[in-house]
Amino acid sequence: MDVQETSDMNLMEKVVSLCKRRGFVFQSSEIYGGFNGFWDYGPYGSMLKKAVEQLWWNEMVETRNNVVGLDSTIICHPRTWKASGHVDRFGDIMCDCKKCKTRFRVDQMEDPTTCSNCGSKDLTPPREFNLMMKTYVGPVFDEEHIAYLRAESCQPIFLDFNLIRIATRQQLPFGIAQVGKAFRNEITPRMFTFRSREFTQMEMEFFCEDEGSLDWFEYWKEQRWKYYTEKLGFTEDEIQWAPHDKLAHYAKAAVDIEFKFPFGWGELEGIHHRGTWDLQQHQEFSGQNMEYLDPVTGKRFLPTVVETSVGCDRTILAILCHAYAEDKAPTQKEGMEDDIRIVLRFPPRIAPIQVGVLPLSKKLNDKAAEVQKKIQQFYRTELDVTGNIGKRYRRQDEIGTPFCVTVDFDTENDGAVTIRDRDTMAQERVAIDQLKQYLDNKIYGW
Ligand code: GAP
Repeated sequence: MDVQETSDMNLMEKVVSLCKRRGFVFQSSEIYGGFNGFWDYGPYGSMLKKAVEQLWWNEMVETRNNVVGLDSTIICHPRTWKASGHVDRFGDIMCDCKKCKTRFRVDQMEDPTTCSNCGSKDLTPPREFNLMMKTYVGPVFDEEHIAYLRAESCQPIFLDFNLIRIATRQQLPFGIAQVGKAFRNEITPRMFTFRSREFTQMEMEFFCEDEGSLDWFEYWKEQRWKYYTEKLGFTEDEIQWAPHDKLAHYAKAAVDIEFKFPFGWGELEGIHHRGTWDLQQHQEFSGQNMEYLDPVTGKRFLPTVVETSVGCDRTILAILCHAYAEDKAPTQKEGMEDDIRIVLRFPPRIAPIQVGVLPLSKKLNDKAAEVQKKIQQFYRTELDVTGNIGKRYRRQDEIGTPFCVTVDFDTENDGAVTIRDRDTMAQERVAIDQLKQYLDNKIYGW
């Protein structure tokens, strides 16, 4: 199940509004009225996205000796998608309202005989709608030159399996990971970036012997759950397991990790046992032998695959919903009530700006720039010089900056700065010489 709708749309509206106001995520091509299902990541959003991709890559590739990376093309040989089954079977059943022209996915309609938009009962019969996005490669725009934008980033992993195995000398069991764009002509893109037509996937295909593959399935389930709770800080009541009701004929197991979005539980990641299906299909369609030769037993066989597949955009949306908070902050003016402040409590490691550098007065701009220069090769920093200091703290809170370094009139004399913690709002005096050690510890726990 992709999404089950429930409540708190108020939080969703606040997140969407903050994303636009502060330059995280906004509609693609807004000056032309937007383009449904396509989203741009602005300055802070693109930093957050890169940090999330890097965190996943570090978790899945860089810290493991038995998982290697790939960066393949988005368009690959059209037979790929014939072999994978996407050309013939990758679709939704949909119908249109003849009166108001609204299009629906039949599986998402509460009452499949009535248009939920205008109430009309005059609907077209349900029909199959293929989600693959097409283009043409070459000078002639005809059937023969049709190619597809990939609908999932994992297929090129199967195509390159032999090349990668030989180049890296990996023996089973081992994995191949890729982060990249996928495209689906979704009938009803909605819930902000949750269901988009262009999105980024982070996928890992783990190749192993069939015997023991269910143990690997359990292993990856555990690894991925730990990643969400320990690395992203999601709580046990924000995520849940959702086993698939129906399994593909070749699969031995499949489960989703769902996140409690403001609009309800929605799929974040799928962990799938894919059997030998993909390698088998590509072997048949390409005529190339995709078998693995076990160097110890001399046995030849098609490896079984356990996949972990997560949407980067959905991860970011979950991170934003988890991080959004409104709390009380002491007002900057005497005798006034405390302010309500908006704060994004990102884990420091993925915050788009990890350290804000703020001079207390314009006269200290040069000194603050000097301090920023000392640390900007280690962290994502921003020199924030516009507006009074209270407003600048609020702005940094809203973009989720975990630490603000304030340069004041004492800095010149004592060689120290004040560091303000986003969450506790506590302030600490730290020597500039100790800044890296202090921030490394706070951000990375080193
Ligand atoms: N290779 C397996 C695969 O693609 P999927 O369940 O179709 O499986 C995996 O997609 C993940 O990709 C989903 O859990 C979701 O996070 C993300 N995803 C799928 N369709 C998406 C869409 N239209 N917009 C944003 N993310 C999407």
